[in-house]
Formats: sequence, C-alpha cells, structure tokens
Amino acid sequence: MTTLATATATVPAPAVVPRVPIPANGVDYRNKIVLAPMVRSGELPSRLLALKYGADLVWGPETIDRSMIGAERRVNPRNGTIEFTRMPSNGGRPNKPVKASIIYRIDPVREKGRLIYQMGTANPELAVQAARVVAADVSGIDVNSGCPKPFSTHGGMGAALLRTPDLLVSILEALVKEIGEPFQIGISVKIRILSSPEETEALVTRLVKTGITGLTVHCRTTPMRPRERAIRDQLPMIAKICHDAGVACVMNGDVTSRDQGLALMSEYGVDGAMIATSAETNSSCFRAEEDGGVAPWRDVVHEYMRFCIESENRLGNTKYLLNMLIPGKDKEFKDTKLSKTYLDICRGLKFDGLLTAAAAVDQLLGLDDKWETTAGVPDIQTQSGSKPKAVQNAMESEAARAAGGGAVRTKTPSPAVHGGGPIRRSSAPQPAKVAQVDAEQPAVEATIPAAQTQAPSQLTA
Ligand SMILES: Cc1cc2nc3c(=O)[nH]c(=O)nc-3n(C[C@H](O)[C@H](O)[C@H](O)COP(=O)(O)O)c2cc1C
Repeated sequence: MTTLATATATVPAPAVVPRVPIPANGVDYRNKIVLAPMVRSGELPSRLLALKYGADLVWGPETIDRSMIGAERRVNPRNGTIEFTRMPSNGGRPNKPVKASIIYRIDPVREKGRLIYQMGTANPELAVQAARVVAADVSGIDVNSGCPKPFSTHGGMGAALLRTPDLLVSILEALVKEIGEPFQIGISVKIRILSSPEETEALVTRLVKTGITGLTVHCRTTPMRPRERAIRDQLPMIAKICHDAGVACVMNGDVTSRDQGLALMSEYGVDGAMIATSAETNSSCFRAEEDGGVAPWRDVVHEYMRFCIESENRLGNTKYLLNMLIPGKDKEFKDTKLSKTYLDICRGLKFDGLLTAAAAVDQLLGLDDKWETTAGVPDIQTQSGSKPKAVQNAMESEAARAAGGGAVRTKTPSPAVHGGGPIRRSSAPQPAKVAQVDAEQPAVEATIPAAQTQAPSQLTA
C-alpha cells in the first residue's frame, strides 16, 4: 500500500524554470508579437502604426554606434517627441543653413515600456557609449547580429558577429554590466541560424550566459535571400537552450500575422514572434482576427499619414513606406509616387481631414514652395506670399539654432511641454548631453486642427 509519505517522496518536484530577472525599467519578451527592426521602414510613424494595430513591442531600426555617440537629445515642443540630433560632420551643403539631422525619434508616451533600441556595433566600448545616449528613454537595447548587408558586415557588425562569437559575447557582457544594470533595462541580441544545428547550438549556448534577457532568431542563414522560406527546424533546440538559461526566445522569419504568430509560438515552443515584411505591407497584421483582422489599405495609410504628419517625419522616408503600404497596381500609387509634399499626397488620397495639418507640416519642413497649388488650403493659406507667423517663427528659431544662436538651451531634463519628456524620472543615469528645444519656441500648432495639436499622450495610439 502506498502511504502518503511514500507517495510524496515519489512525486517529482516541479521543475524550477530559471529566468533571467527582467530589470525594473525593462520588458519581458514573453508572449509578445513584435515589430521587427527595419532600417527605413522602422521609423517612429511606422512604429506608432504597428502599436496602434496591436504590436506588443516595437524594435527601432538598426542605428550604428558611432552615429549615436555625441548626439544631442532634445524635446520637440510641438509634439513632445524626443529627438536625437547631430550636426553634419562635413559642415553641410554650401550656401544652405547648417541643419542638425535627426538620427532617432522616440514618442515617450506611446512607446513607453514598448520600445527596443537596436544598434549596429562591433566594439564593446563604442556599444556602451552609444547605448548610454538613449538608455534612459528605451526599454531595452538589442544588438544586431544578423544583418547580411555589406555596409554592416564590412565593419564586423551584423551577421559578421556570428563568425566572431568572442567579440559578440564581449559586446553583450559589456552592455549588460555598463548599461543594463545601471539603467535597469534589458539587453538582447538578434541572430540568424547558422548552417548546421551544431554551430547554432554552440553559439546560442554562449550567448545565453551573457546576462541577456532575450534572444531573437531569424530563421534564415546569412546567405539566404529574404524571399527564401524560413527554416524552422532548429527552433525547438534554440528555444530549449534559451529556456534552460532563463532567456526569452523570439522567432522571426515568415511570421505574417498575430494569429499565425501565436500558433507558431505554441508549435515550436518559443516565447514570442517578430514580424517584418508583412508589417511593412500592412501593419494591421498585428490585429487579431477576432478584433477585425487585417484592415483595408486606405485605413492603414490614413493612420500612417496622420502619424507621419504628427511626427514631422522626413517626406522621403514617409514616401518609402507609402510605396509598400499602397498596392502597386492602385491608381493612387502613381500619384503618390509623384507628389512632393504632404499636402499633395493627402489631396491625392482624398484625406480631406488631414489637409490643414499636412499644409502646416509642409511649411515647417520648407516643402510649401513645392505645392502643386495653394488653392483650397484652409486657414493656413499664405497671405501676400508670407508664411503664417507661427510657422515663420518656428523656422527662424530652427535656422538660428542651427547657426549656433540661442534658440536651443542646454539644460537638465524636465517634463516636456504638453506632457511629453523623458520616459522615466527614476534615478536611472541620464544621457551625458541633454539639449532641449526652448519650450517657448513658437509652434506650428496654431494652424493645426485640435486632433493634431494634442500631445502624443492625448492621441489614441
Ligand atoms: C526594409 C528592411 C530593413 C531591415 N532592417 C533590419 C535592421 O535594421 N536590423 C535587423 O536586425 N534586421 C533588419 N531587417 C531584417 C528583419 O528584421 C527580419 O529579420 C527579416 O525581414 C525577416 O523577417 P520577415 O520574414 O518577417 O520579413 C530588415 C528587413 C527589411 C525588409
């Protein structure tokens, strides 16, 4: 007869699943469907679009360590976004006012707790210096160890790191110690599979011991073309190594929707799924079928344009993603491709509710001289050829600042205008250089309808 004592003795103790602790300002990648890092396609408006349609986390585009080192941080008083800027190293174009370029934009409200900053690096010291600039404003730092493009691999970055595991380990360890611990955020890595499971196993076994909280695996080898189908047979092995070490494992490659991602997660035993190209084509792929599923492209493009205008996104970048979001055969595709201003794009797409804001942002960005016509531009229409006062002031301040004038004051971070500002007011160390645009700087918002004048925090994501 089995006594209670013997029965208890024979029941195996529940397995203790180790977990690398998620730091206080970090985020757990488990049970998440996330937007992949994408150069060009992963700027702020696309990330806000993905979040609006249900992405749980968003990765920013790979940013090379050297381009972030020395960047200045400022808060845009018109929309509350954080902008990391730097002056051109070559002094800019002759006969043009020197203008700081915006390297990275963050929405401190809508991206709070959901943004992972991805860097390209091949050097632990540079990685730490670059990460320190943004660490207080993001929830995690990810190292790109999968980009196969020569601009990345030539410098030993991206997929080249898969062949220099000692270097990759030293970068991750430095980031965990110098950034993850003091700023209390997670450090993670994105890799590709290697050609044999044994090689992948050896690499992942080393990476999960560095203190990282998450590992994403793009299920293609470095030489594989994006259109080749992802290979998933190494996934269970990779997931097991991650789980044994307490690290979250995110799969990537041919994940096309939230529902499919969740099904794949349970099929392969991974913790999360990352979507890239399907989100480029229609970001509503993050919306579950039961919540409406994939939305018509016009709805998605309308929201995208709204986010681009709010973010004051560079028009060239806006058009890049529009080319993906608007189906190629559609008549509006051609018109949009030819448009040189926000106003003309919105006119072409018949987004009448965005026209005033589009005109305002064109003026701010100096695109208004390319308008096809000024007829029918409500409220903001130029009088005797001059720009509205608020826009004029904003542009003059920008020019003065670029020329070293007093429009930008350097001061310690304070809550941003309109409720924006640094994500955290905790004791986390702040970026070394903090420049904030003068809060009193005149803004374009006087000419923008109420929906566009609110802080990002007040707008629905
Ligand atoms: C336009 C574009 C830009 C990309 N940029 C990056 C990047 O900055 N960092 C990175 O790790 N991967 C980058 N990737 C790769 C994607 O993150 C992802 O790993 C790959 O597209 C596979 O996912 P998918 O099958 O869902 O497209 C990029 C992909 C595309 C299409």
